[in-house]
Amino acid sequence: MNTNVKENNTEKYQTIRFEVEQGIGLLTINRPDKLNALNQQVFLDIVDCLSAIEDNVRGLIITGEGQKAFIAGADIKAMSTMTESEAIAFSALGHKTTMLFADLPIPVIAAVNGFALGGGFEMAMAADFIYASDNAVFGLPETKLGLIPGFGGTQRLARLIGASKAKELVFTGRNINVDEAVNLGIVVQSFSSQEELLNAAKATLLQAMKNGQLAIAASKKVINESSDVNIVEGLSLENKAFSTLFGTKDMREGVNAFLDKRSANFTGK
Ligand code: CAA
Repeated sequence: MNTNVKENNTEKYQTIRFEVEQGIGLLTINRPDKLNALNQQVFLDIVDCLSAIEDNVRGLIITGEGQKAFIAGADIKAMSTMTESEAIAFSALGHKTTMLFADLPIPVIAAVNGFALGGGFEMAMAADFIYASDNAVFGLPETKLGLIPGFGGTQRLARLIGASKAKELVFTGRNINVDEAVNLGIVVQSFSSQEELLNAAKATLLQAMKNGQLAIAASKKVINESSDVNIVEGLSLENKAFSTLFGTKDMREGVNAFLDKRSANFTGK
């Protein structure tokens, strides 16, 4: 398939847009009138989209429609009438969806353009890393609603910035601006406009796409899986993934290209 052709699956979904250009998937949450709040349909659309993602997609960006919000959280109106058993299912659907980003064998960047609150912040943390525009605002305000984060926030924020800082943000529910988010290590880099943000995310993915895709998939898997194990187990995971790559054509191509003083031509095999 020609990856330079722009493909558009927008009409298939009610609440998201999905376009592919130059091998990069751009998944946009598209409920701007509700600041892209996450209801069940948004999750179902994302699950459907990610499950059908094709091999020609080598990197993914998730962002929000409009200038104001990435995602302003779980849909509070939808939650207002939920029973406990419905809440179990809603949270589980959020967990399933966020885990799909981790399980994709390609780099996923959250391009946060405005409010990333509650479930929006949680969705961003499920990406491999976060780039943000200068107007981005992060927060887990769930305790203000008598709730706790339900789409992975208690787990991912503590892993990302440590339990103490995570607790301070969750207990107070306070918002943080992009500078504080960069200082805390939540955001890798900030940009002065939404256009610059998306261009930078695309440029980073294009740079990664020049490298061995099997190596990227293996490094993502080892880093993700190692965050929950001790260092001995983590090193063992690394040892296995490192040595497995010696059985791939791409690894032979990569090292031979270096020795031949030429660019590598990776094929994903
Ligand atoms: N759920 C549902 N609707 C939302 C929403 C949300 N999380 N956030 C915003 N909206 C809706 C508003 O109700 C409003 O809709 P109407 O025009 O129909 O009234 C529209 O989006 C625009 O929002 P505002 O008028 O509030 O915009 P603002 O500029 O005055 O404020 C804001 C922006 C500060 C982000 C404010 O909208 C806000 O505080 N939103 C809620 C943030 C929040 O608490 N998020 C956490 C949700 S709980 C959660 O996510 C649980 C979980 O982990 C599972």
